[in-house]
Amino acid sequence: MCGIVGFLGDNPEKILIDRLKKLEYRGYDSAGVAVKSQNKVNIFKSKGEIKNLENIIKTTENACLGIGHTRWATHGKPDEINAHPHLSSDGKWIVVHNGIIENYLTLKDKLVNDGYNFYSETDTEIIAKLLEYYSKSGSTLDAIKNTVNKLNGSFALCILHKDDNHLFFVKNRSPLYVAKNADNVMVASDVVCFKGFSEEYYNIPDGYYGFADSNNVKFFDKLGEVQLSTSELDLCEFESETTFKHFMLKEIYETAPSIKNILEHYSLKNNRKQFDKIDFSKIKKFKFVGCGTAYHACLVGSDMLEEKTNVECNAYVASEFRYSNPKIGEDTLVVLVSQSGETADTLAALELARQKGAYTVAIVNVEYSTLAKCADCYLPIKAGVEVGVASTKAYCAQLAVLYIFSQIIYEKMGLGSFNLDDLENLSKNFEYGNVTEFKLLADALKYNDRIFMIGRGVDYYSALEASLKIKETSYINSDTYYAGELKHGFLALIENDTYVIVFATDKKVLSKTISNAEEARARGAKLILLTCFDFKPHELDNFHYVIKVKNANGPLQSILNIVPWQIIAYYTSIFKGINPDKPRNLAKSVTVE
Ligand code: AGP
Ligand code: GLU
Repeated sequence: MCGIVGFLGDNPEKILIDRLKKLEYRGYDSAGVAVKSQNKVNIFKSKGEIKNLENIIKTTENACLGIGHTRWATHGKPDEINAHPHLSSDGKWIVVHNGIIENYLTLKDKLVNDGYNFYSETDTEIIAKLLEYYSKSGSTLDAIKNTVNKLNGSFALCILHKDDNHLFFVKNRSPLYVAKNADNVMVASDVVCFKGFSEEYYNIPDGYYGFADSNNVKFFDKLGEVQLSTSELDLCEFESETTFKHFMLKEIYETAPSIKNILEHYSLKNNRKQFDKIDFSKIKKFKFVGCGTAYHACLVGSDMLEEKTNVECNAYVASEFRYSNPKIGEDTLVVLVSQSGETADTLAALELARQKGAYTVAIVNVEYSTLAKCADCYLPIKAGVEVGVASTKAYCAQLAVLYIFSQIIYEKMGLGSFNLDDLENLSKNFEYGNVTEFKLLADALKYNDRIFMIGRGVDYYSALEASLKIKETSYINSDTYYAGELKHGFLALIENDTYVIVFATDKKVLSKTISNAEEARARGAKLILLTCFDFKPHELDNFHYVIKVKNANGPLQSILNIVPWQIIAYYTSIFKGINPDKPRNLAKSVTVE
């Protein structure tokens, strides 16, 4: 969500725009930069895409410093006035912010009483005004320290001062990193910005602030200056043979390489060793927590583990879990699943689990993320950078790692031996399906305002995830129901030619699900069946279309079930003229609650 870049060096404009483009995938609705020379600061802001900003930027002569921002509006509409950077009343402080200042109204009331005027609707503007307020009685750095002490919430900040040539930064519960090379310094909310700039970077801890000049980067915590060590920049990216038009499609086709990566990583015993520190005789229950697609992975993972170990497992949406006073403690292992590792609610769930004394395991893609760093154990999903807002390869990789996790626990609990045969088989013969047919389906679906998806058990989870993909990329209201719930309400919504997608890959409830589909068909529904079984031709008479996937004979079926729907969602989006990589109103990394 939102992006921040700061650059200390000559001609910052080009670097700022280039790096803001790298952050576009996170989602934004306006953008802005501030560029500083010895005695002048120029500000440029625009609504919409970065290219609008690019068109209005003028070169600032002898510029040596700059900050840039892509905004995903939380407070105030996405327009030019609310776009960052924001300024103090005297125009000396210039701020870009990612996150939310939760106590901004209280702080604003006080400053309004002191005569400060506000021009925007944002929570961010309060920071610029507070900096001005505190700089009346102290140094620039004191003003930053005192301001930060007053703020509640999540904030990554880059700050400039008109009379100072330092690049200031602050980090609290929103990602922010610093890198330097021989000549320049860069601050960014994602390390992807450092590619081609530096091979290492500083991971700024929460509550820290600091500044950079051409010689140094200095970090401070509440007690004073602190030395930080650097981490190596290690961005896992796959070489794609073909040029894909969109990240979403490219990433769908990176599912098989991701699974290969996973197998390579986890077949090494050393990479599973971290679980040695957990006393499994104490563990009586497992809680799986995530948001959106990651939550759907949790549902599958929870069932997988319960089936394998017979130990109580449950899955929760992180935003509910964190406020639910969950019954967890030393006998609980909480598994947090996330692509980005920065989702605010999932991080809060981690914090709660830790406070209550539970063991925590993070299953995360971004290896340098907060979640990966803060959990007791960390299982990387090895899917490489995922840029498309719709999570595709990361979901499949999460399922593969959740499968491995269930194997690890099975072994640790002394129930049997670790075995990756099923995943190896899946990897060897991975198929993406018949794209020509998926395109035809996408073409048919694009005319619908709403469709329905049904399934039982794990098939229901596949339906949930397929529905989410269709919703976010194609803006079709795809609703999901347990197949057995049909006649308890939603049958009333079925009309002639309403599409009902039926997921039926679980042998033990196959005939039940098919009967439920028939009930919908009898009311005029057009049925699309996704199954891994062979049917006699006449048994399929009532189905408008059948998607046949391979039979994984077990818990990995969910991976095979979703790939066709990721591709269908992609093409539905394309046929509707939507950019699937950047669906409206959504952000890739949801760093606010
Ligand atoms: C997935 O397609 C969505 N964009 C969204 O639901 C996402 O999965 C959710 O925001 C969680 O993100 P995370 O995996 O980075 O925690
Ligand atoms: N809360 C700030 C705003 O609405 C920052 C949002 C962001 O992170 O982009 O302007």
